[in-house]
Amino acid sequence: GGLPRFANDPMVDFTRPDHRAAFPAALAQVRANAGKTYPLFIGGQEVTTADLIPTVNPAKPSEVLGQICQAGIPEVTRAIAAAKAVFPAWRDTPPRERAQYLLKAAEIARRRAFELSAWQVLEIGKQWDQAYADVGEAIDFLEYYAREMIRLGTPQRVGNAPGELNHYFYEPKGLAAVIAPWNFPLAISMGMASAAIVTGNPVIYKPSNITGIIGHHLMEIFKEAGLPAGVFNYVPGRGSVMGDFLVDHPDISLIAFTGSMEVGLRIVERAAKVYPGQPNVKKIISEMGGKNAIIIDDDADLDEAVPHVLYSAFAFQGQKCSACSRVIVLDAVYDRFTERLVKAAQAYRIGPSEDPANTMGAVADAAAQKSILEYAALGKQEGKLLYESPIPQGEGYWVPLTIVGGITPQHRLAQEEVFGPVLAVMRAKDFDQAVEWANSTRFALTGGIFSRSPEHLAQARRDFRVGNLYINRNNTGAQVERQPFGGARMSGVGTKSGGPDYLLHFMDPRVVTENT
Ligand code: NAD
Ligand code: ALA
Repeated sequence: GGLPRFANDPMVDFTRPDHRAAFPAALAQVRANAGKTYPLFIGGQEVTTADLIPTVNPAKPSEVLGQICQAGIPEVTRAIAAAKAVFPAWRDTPPRERAQYLLKAAEIARRRAFELSAWQVLEIGKQWDQAYADVGEAIDFLEYYAREMIRLGTPQRVGNAPGELNHYFYEPKGLAAVIAPWNFPLAISMGMASAAIVTGNPVIYKPSNITGIIGHHLMEIFKEAGLPAGVFNYVPGRGSVMGDFLVDHPDISLIAFTGSMEVGLRIVERAAKVYPGQPNVKKIISEMGGKNAIIIDDDADLDEAVPHVLYSAFAFQGQKCSACSRVIVLDAVYDRFTERLVKAAQAYRIGPSEDPANTMGAVADAAAQKSILEYAALGKQEGKLLYESPIPQGEGYWVPLTIVGGITPQHRLAQEEVFGPVLAVMRAKDFDQAVEWANSTRFALTGGIFSRSPEHLAQARRDFRVGNLYINRNNTGAQVERQPFGGARMSGVGTKSGGPDYLLHFMDPRVVTENT
């Protein structure tokens, strides 16, 4: 008791002059702090290494925002030792007390919301609203998991046999490796890390190097919240140098991963092996990619469908696991829909995200740029180019907003995750075929449908098998508690972040039976 009911953090409101003014001020503050070297944080202490990776503004890669110290095997070993040392005390800290640290962290993140958003605008190229939404989601995870732990932390009486008292309760699994992607650099990291922490598992946190500074801010938030030394360790490093070592380590009992299918499946495979002295079978939370479709029925309201599809496909440059990358359009409306889609896409302005007049920014890094351009070229071969936007001249990881028509399920563009602003348009002969095509990839993360037909909506609810299905709206931006998020099949193992079952994956249940 005592805590108000969970509510989502309010979204930034650009009609408010103070919110509008806060962004340029925060961007200037961030720039004034550029160029620092960021140490690791292990067992409550800063640790510097000689191996550095620069982190840059993707819209202007010559602008170096900071240098991230890289952990090698010795630093990971040290972080695991620090986490191991604090584990018994952290495990035995009452759940309600652990939850207080999350609530404190939420307060700190709220105070720093504009600054944390500005870092995202510059370090990963999020538009202002996209950046603020990520910070808001991070706050939501803290507030929600704090309450969830309080709910789950009280032992439950089970059964009703006379003369017997049964208590069912949870305890942490052990040391948690939290391995995060760059695309929701605060929210996803915070979600996985705070869940591990509040359930009693000390964390070895490896952010993506592309967003190492935001990862460092996450650490600062927990540090300021006063977490005991060793409970949260910030250990960025090269996946190729320390990734396997961390995953294979016998003292790790839990791995919370969000990222690509390739890396996720590699972790699942490696973590299955049991090494001498290993205390536990490793538990893997692996949330991976998507190839998400929106179906446009022949009676869809195109005034609604067109902007929602564009937003789902191109906000933050399409770099969301939830992004729409296939739009499956019923034959009867295909020409009308694609014509309107292309017209509306022409209004997109591509340029640095720090300028709010731009609707699409640069992509994450040179590797992402190369891969996206290859997929755009492939799409032009496999289908028919409907639209390709101009891109800014000069430096920056720019790719055009690309829409390709005439794609069918056997095309690679219909099957592989692009993770960028390339949208495939598919013409389906009828609604059954649209649903069949929607399900025809190995992924099952998000999906959408625009329709006014109750029968078709019922069919989609039943047969469009994705983790998160959205009816008559965009298919990104799941909200904590309201849309527990995550997929099935090769999109994930079904843990649903921000939902009522999430914390259960981080704990082992126990039962104590007493004869009375
Ligand atoms: P990625 O798989 O390349 O990297 C994710 C993390 O794994 C990074 O921290 C990376 O350094 C690390 N890593 C790399 N090799 C490793 C190894 N051998 N061992 C251990 N760790 C290793 O993914 P990314 O490019 O950062 O993120 C984009 C991907 O994430 C997309 O596929 C997207 O769909 C997916 N994603 C999924 C969700 C979801 O909830 N399902 C959410 C966001 C992003
Ligand atoms: N939770 C994020 C979304 O729904 C990935 O877009």
